[in-house]
Order: sequence, then C-alpha cells, then structure tokens
Amino acid sequence: MLREKLDTLRLLLRKYGVGGLLTLLRTDVWFDYAHGVDTYSEVSKDELFTGDRHALQNRYFPSTFALIELAFAEARAILGDEIRQCNLLDYGSGKGKVLIAGARYGFALSRGIEYTERMHAVAGRNIAKLGLGQQVELIHGDAAEFVPSPKDRVVYLFNPFEGEVLDRAMRNLRSVTPEGKRVLVVYNPICDDIFQRYFTRVAEKVAQPGNARYNVYVG
Ligand SMILES: C[S@@+](CC[C@H](N)C(=O)[O-])C[C@H]1O[C@@H](n2cnc3c(N)ncnc32)[C@H](O)[C@@H]1O
Repeated sequence: MLREKLDTLRLLLRKYGVGGLLTLLRTDVWFDYAHGVDTYSEVSKDELFTGDRHALQNRYFPSTFALIELAFAEARAILGDEIRQCNLLDYGSGKGKVLIAGARYGFALSRGIEYTERMHAVAGRNIAKLGLGQQVELIHGDAAEFVPSPKDRVVYLFNPFEGEVLDRAMRNLRSVTPEGKRVLVVYNPICDDIFQRYFTRVAEKVAQPGNARYNVYVG
C-alpha cells in the first residue's frame, strides 16, 4: 500500500515536476480533503470492468482542475458568452469531478454519463455533499447507447473509452442536431480518426505541466 503510494508520487513528480506537483496537491488533492468528497483516488480497470468491456473502456483516473478549466476556456473561445446557455456533457463522468467544475463554472446544466454503478454512486455522493444537485445530472449507462440532448454543446472526454464504443457514442452525438455550435475537447486523443469521422478538428495542442495532449473539434 505504502509502496503503491510512493510509486504514484514518483510518477506524478516525473510528470509534473516539483512546482506542478505542489499545485496539484494544493488544488486537486486538497479539494477532496477540504470538502469531504472523493474525486482524486484512482480505480483500476480490473476493478471496474470484465470481459470484452475490459479492452475498450478505461480505468477511473480524474482530470485535474487545471485541465478542466483549460477545456472550458477552449470552448469559450469558440462559443463566447453563449457558453452559459449550453450544457456540459462529460462522457465517462466517473466520480463527477468535471461536473463539479462545470456547475461552478455556470453551465446551464452539467451532465455526465457513467457506465459503472460504483463510480456513478460515488459521483452521486459527491454531488449531494457539495449541494450541486440542481446543476448536475448524473446518468448511469453505456455511452455507446446514449443519445445526448441538443443543448449538450460543450463535450468533454478524458480518455474514457475507444474503438467501437467510442465510434457508437460519437455517431449518436453527431445524429443530434445541436442548438448552435458544438465543441468537443478531447484529452489524449488516440482515436483522432474516429472523431474526425464525425467532427472537424480545429486544434491540436499540448498543455503544461504534464504534456497533456488534447484536440478540439467542432460540429
Ligand atoms: C479516465 S476516467 C475520466 C473521469 C472523468 N471524466 C474525469 O475526467 O475526471 C474514464 C471514466 O469513463 C468510464 N467509462 C468507461 N467506459 C464507459 C462507457 N462505455 N460509458 C460510460 N462511461 C464509461 C469509466 O468507468 C471511468 O469512470
């Protein structure tokens, strides 16, 4: 247990450097402690999925608040003030961290779809504890089956799934005509070809610290 924690610390140190790691501790790790919620601790793939689901769906690992805010800024650069009339949609919403940030940012509604009962339940407790039930909608289900709303115009993906699951989710999203421009911010965009099948890529960037690659798509 202690060894695992030290390994994680070493990994984070390599990824973010001393300054970045201190910021992470001060913002993301402290957030959980200060509010009595659980968003930060990782949950492995083996604990969440079995069978064919194991191959295409990813573990729970949270976005940092810095990356979430960067994604909102990217969307705002395209949507302007209209962004406040849009819903945020987080595919693979896990413990609800992105939705917490979305509610605080002021989206019309922050919606998340999460496959696992376990993560969905943790998200429910987090949202209740923070009193954000009016601003957040948690959907328990498979993103591949989910049909979004025309208001879901800021779409966030932090490495939730790939292959056929991603293709079906993006096909469903594309099948819904949005109320205005729709922006997708995708971290670790390893399946760029699938996104480009349905949307237009408008940016390819790398965020620091941590070398987080992300793409922005519209459509
Ligand atoms: C890397 S975590 C991202 C969590 C959160 N979006 C964030 O950025 O903090 C990926 C999440 O996607 C969920 N997931 C994987 N496959 C899914 C599917 N088919 N439908 C919905 N959620 C899925 C996992 O259970 C996990 O909670």
